Amino acid sequence: MPAKPRKILATSALPYANGPIHIGHLVEYIQTDIWVRYQRLAGHDVTYLCASDAHGTPIMLKARDAGITPEALVERFRAEHQQAFAGFRVDFNNYYTTHSEENRELVEEFYARLDAGGLITQRVIQQAYDAEAGMFLPDRFIRGDCPVCGTPDQYGDSCESCGATYSPSELGNPRSVVSGTAPVEKPSVHYFFRLAAFAESLRQWLAGGHVQEGVARKLQEWFSAGLRDWDISRDAPYFGFRIPGTEDKYFYVWLDAPVGYMASHRNWLRKTGRPDSDFDAAWDAASTAELHHFIGKDILYFHTLFWPALLEGAGFRKPTAVHVHGFLTVNGQKMSKSRGTFIAASTYLKHLDPEYLRYYYAFKLGPGLDDIDLSLEDFVARVNSDLVGKVVNLASRCAGFISQRFDGALATSLDAPALYREFVAAGGSIGAAYEQLDYGRAMRETMQLADAANRYIDDQKPWVLARDPATLPRVQLVCTQGLNLFRLLMTYLAPVLPRVAEQAAAFLHAGPVSWAGRETPLLGSRISTYEPLLVRVDPGAVSRMVEDSMDKPPTTSPAAPSPTPKGPEATTEIELADFQKVDLRIATVLQAEAVEGADKLVRLTLDIGTEQRTVLSGIKSAYAPADLVGRQVILVANLKPRKMRFGISQGMVLAAGGDAGLFLVGPDAPAPPGLRVS
Ligand code: MSP
Ligand code: ZN
Repeated sequence: MPAKPRKILATSALPYANGPIHIGHLVEYIQTDIWVRYQRLAGHDVTYLCASDAHGTPIMLKARDAGITPEALVERFRAEHQQAFAGFRVDFNNYYTTHSEENRELVEEFYARLDAGGLITQRVIQQAYDAEAGMFLPDRFIRGDCPVCGTPDQYGDSCESCGATYSPSELGNPRSVVSGTAPVEKPSVHYFFRLAAFAESLRQWLAGGHVQEGVARKLQEWFSAGLRDWDISRDAPYFGFRIPGTEDKYFYVWLDAPVGYMASHRNWLRKTGRPDSDFDAAWDAASTAELHHFIGKDILYFHTLFWPALLEGAGFRKPTAVHVHGFLTVNGQKMSKSRGTFIAASTYLKHLDPEYLRYYYAFKLGPGLDDIDLSLEDFVARVNSDLVGKVVNLASRCAGFISQRFDGALATSLDAPALYREFVAAGGSIGAAYEQLDYGRAMRETMQLADAANRYIDDQKPWVLARDPATLPRVQLVCTQGLNLFRLLMTYLAPVLPRVAEQAAAFLHAGPVSWAGRETPLLGSRISTYEPLLVRVDPGAVSRMVEDSMDKPPTTSPAAPSPTPKGPEATTEIELADFQKVDLRIATVLQAEAVEGADKLVRLTLDIGTEQRTVLSGIKSAYAPADLVGRQVILVANLKPRKMRFGISQGMVLAAGGDAGLFLVGPDAPAPPGLRVS
């Protein structure tokens, strides 16, 4: 640990206050929170700031649709966001809003300084106007073909396919999202920030190691294309801050949003009675404090070009680092409402412990921009095998002996001091991995230690030693060693698992967790009785969470469960292509239970290789649920999810049926789940 604590400001991007926080967002907030917690454990002084991003047309229109003021809408989501973050133990010092007086003051100050520096220009532009809706159309409310790569149906400001940014007038085949009509061009005076004036200093800044290599490469492309002036104004009607000296011009949301980081800081300083000079110490051009922004790759242009240029233009310091992460996919695909993988933070929290997800994200996160995949099956297996099987188990194995045989007292010396020292030394590399955002490596190295600790216990066999009074004293030594190793594992996992780490420290009577505290083993002290720190992930809870996250179709007819046994019937001839539309897959029944209140229904949890599905099937008259587990069936995998009175059915299993009985259909020998049937 360095002798001098670093002064660090850390931020996560400010989520828009017009929708719930979901597990995609959480990649970022969990990533930042882990880093912040690690820095704090290492003794540094970190202020972690965030806020809801309140402004812009989407929020204005959404409030209008809901018949409330944008302020009320923003306040509702801000409170909801704060609750979601608290639920996942994201430990902000301040969670504010960009629609605040502090932010207005700061944005006006930025604008005045930039203007005084000759960095603002005005020009009349032709802008898209929706004559039917009576408003100028913001970039995002026009869609059309990307002018760079030609991908259709892209937003007016940037392309999701190639990442280019442009102005909406450059789109091919534009149309208004508000009224659906083709926009017309109308002139309007706009204000521009002269980004090109910063080309040289941005180039230097980018070469200075403030961004990851992948980011620098991406930016190089934009540099080669040339930096263009940036339009920072929008016409009324707009929800935002009015530009001083104008009647109907507003600052574009992307100008006041990053300034919101500073406003959140100022608000926190004032709220906690700290001096305003702390603000200057952090933001002055000559500040020696560190400033770390954490963002997703979709908003890197704003944070690595506009924002440093704005800061410099207004006489403030530039960021120490902008850390960019990739996007979340679930089971290998984009989050989707119909698949139930667009999971809100609040829905997750209804079903599962937040620390499971924190661990899984940590395990998957590296220092680069790669997307990360949440495979729900792997999630269950990983958490259960690592956290429960290796870490928590170690404590429960050892604590029982200490409590029952030694009245809770730890031995006064370590049985294997060299092993303990190895664990202490490993903290150097694990700490460095946290520092470099290579959490995957931090988790792997910690799990290697966990394996070593369990091996030690397996070798010493305290349960055998305990049988013989002559060897009983060694049990205390061995279990004291085990618990001390466990304590170090918990220290290394503390940034990721704050709740478990805190409870572990409490049961060990170990005092507050810190990186430096690992050097001194716990000896001769007492522990409390062990209480389970973390239970296994229940795969059923994961399925219920997915079910809960599904787009619920409005029809609530208690549709006949699949399949309805009937005799042979006249059928219509179909084309081969019609049949090929049906996606039939081999599925293995993982769980089966009778559906309470339904005579015929069984709720099946199916493994189809890439994911799990819940299917309600009307086969109870012929099959006892318990007999179904382990059996293989054939699933119509692309059947639209159906909402039934007893829940949502994600597909249908095939059975033959009639007066003669009901017969499930399956492969005649074990087959890999997910295999296509044709
Ligand atoms: N309001 C802007 C940020 C302004 S910062 C001055 C914004 N908001 S957002 O709600 O759309 O996104 C907030 C953060 O969450 C962004 O950094 C974004 O990259 C991240 N993510 C949103 N969806 C995500 C995934 N599916 N996966 C990973 N990160 C995601 O952008
Ligand atoms: Zn494109």
